[in-house]
Amino acid sequence: MTVLLEVAGLVSGYGSGTVLGGVDLTVGPEEVVAVVGRNGAGKTTLLQTILGIVDRRAGTVCFGGEDLTAASTTAVARAGIGYVPQGRRIFPTLDVDEHLSIARRPGHWTPAAVYDLFPRLAERRHHGGGQLSGGEQQMLAIGRALVGNPRLLLLDEPSDGLAPNLVAEVMALLDRLRSSGMSVLLVEQDLAAALSVADRVAVLDRGTVSFEAPVPGLDRSILEDLLMPV
Ligand SMILES: Nc1ncnc2c1ncn2[C@@H]1O[C@H](COP(=O)(O)OP(=O)(O)OP(=O)(O)O)[C@@H](O)[C@H]1O
Ligand SMILES: [Mg+2]
Repeated sequence: MTVLLEVAGLVSGYGSGTVLGGVDLTVGPEEVVAVVGRNGAGKTTLLQTILGIVDRRAGTVCFGGEDLTAASTTAVARAGIGYVPQGRRIFPTLDVDEHLSIARRPGHWTPAAVYDLFPRLAERRHHGGGQLSGGEQQMLAIGRALVGNPRLLLLDEPSDGLAPNLVAEVMALLDRLRSSGMSVLLVEQDLAAALSVADRVAVLDRGTVSFEAPVPGLDRSILEDLLMPV
């Protein structure tokens, strides 16, 4: 199998408005695909439509040979797709341990493995989500997705609010996850960070993929032009 996730002709929106006007996108096994685009282009909507958080109005979502087009958010998670949402969505009143135990599913990534990865979280395991710094919340959001042991990880702007050294650490982690057999769909505003790890990049513009290319050998100025504010 050369494709793990295959999204074809995906249409979705809110109320009477259309945001995604037919998105085609694939992610292969052990591939990191970056999705970039201007603010409001529909990046978060794309991830949430794949996950079934936003209703799919047309098109198909297939994952590992399974048709998820009509699948609920729970079924999508069970099929092996993990999610690190934009803005982290950490529960202020649950502590670090509780976040990790709730999300846990069998596999390599246990809470202990997450604590090895992020020693800072281990020190704070009994701290409430509301007491964590932005960086610690991001580590927890990633850890929470990892303990679900997904085959594909969707991340929505993981660099947002992080110091440059932490951004580099997160990108290095994605590289490691790929080496361990995971696939990644990364939505990222930080173009340099995204290109440091991605195998392929897709530009989302007004709800469709307007440009797609392998990252090796890619002329970055093409992307910069496409991302220029209109
Ligand atoms: N819950 C919602 N209800 C109505 N409209 C929404 C909702 N969420 C997003 N939108 C609209 O859908 C469009 C796409 O938003 P989306 O959040 O997917 O963009 P984005 O590419 O993730 O932007 P950003 O880079 O700012 O995160 C925008 O016009 C936005 O205003
Ligand atoms: Mg967004």
